[in-house]
Amino acid sequence: MTSPTPRVVSGIQPSGTIHLGNYFGAIRQHIALQDTHPGDAFYFIADYHALTTVRDPAVLRAHVFDSALTYLALGLDPARATLFRQSDVPEVTELAWLLATVTGMGLLERAHSYKDKLANNITPSVGLFFYPVLMAADILAHDGTLVPVGKDQLQHVEMAQDMATHFNEAYGRDPPVLYRPEPLPAKAAVVPGLDGRKMSKSYDNSLLLFESGKPLRKRVGQIVTDSTPLGEPLPFATCNVVALLRLFCDDAELAAIETYYRDGRRDGAPFGYGHAKLLLAEKIEQHFAPARARREQLLTPAGRAEIEAVLTRGAQRARAVASATLARCRRACGLR
Ligand code: ADP
Ligand code: TRP
Repeated sequence: MTSPTPRVVSGIQPSGTIHLGNYFGAIRQHIALQDTHPGDAFYFIADYHALTTVRDPAVLRAHVFDSALTYLALGLDPARATLFRQSDVPEVTELAWLLATVTGMGLLERAHSYKDKLANNITPSVGLFFYPVLMAADILAHDGTLVPVGKDQLQHVEMAQDMATHFNEAYGRDPPVLYRPEPLPAKAAVVPGLDGRKMSKSYDNSLLLFESGKPLRKRVGQIVTDSTPLGEPLPFATCNVVALLRLFCDDAELAAIETYYRDGRRDGAPFGYGHAKLLLAEKIEQHFAPARARREQLLTPAGRAEIEAVLTRGAQRARAVASATLARCRRACGLR
């Protein structure tokens, strides 16, 4: 049960400013896949999903804009990848209803993310409970067969597989009405935040992609380290600064840094955490310099118009696919 051409589909929830964890855990892989699947890489900004947490319309609009801006600044190429707003393809919500009618309550009750929210005393809305059905509809409406996601989203993709199977079992296996999606888990390790926990917007421990200069150095300065005095050997294997440097340095650079840590010295002079943090701030600034420049261009009136045009064209392409899928599903289950 595979679709004629493999299609990559993934979404990003516009619920906060994008950080290094989002970049290395998800976005970098999304952008790389436009090279291997040109014309068949679909990425959307999941604004319907964001409504489960964001209640301020101006904030939602700002996050949606910022997500599109960030993808385009980082190199998403609209000639090869389709970028759109989820809510510009309302077929997705109709498919979510059709899927809900073949989905058992038990499946949704087993969702880790839902159980975590309950454990954290969040009073769940029906929308929060329904979240995985909408996510399955996103994938299946666009005939997604490859779904690049972070490890935390794997169970949701497995649920989409189950829903596709249940729908096909009810309404037509041969030929299948819906295609089975496969997850493509991100290879990157979990990116630690300033305090050593997983970097997350909920923990206020993030490093953002486009900060630079003094504010960036100040933020990097807040990374938690131990109290080894300047000039003493430092613990390389367990250091949070090193964990972040690994994302930016090649093997030779890391080997050199390892010797500075072991000796507590670089080129004869004392080397401490302050120096390691400066190295990291430079690396972040260099790595994102081209994207930062592109972002500045996109923040001009002409750039903003370009972003809108990309999202509008993306939605047209995505809707063409989703409306064909919906027509297939409606016919299969006896709707006009
Ligand atoms: P947050 O934890 O900040 O709310 P999201 O849950 O919105 O981030 O994550 C969006 C994407 O980024 C997901 O695919 C997730 O796996 C990935 N991601 C988020 N934080 C990290 C991290 N610290 N390390 C690796 N990947 C991450
Ligand atoms: N739930 C995903 C996240 O928080 C975002 C998302 C929504 C998604 N719909 C999707 C990801 C469909 C992949 C496919 O990261």
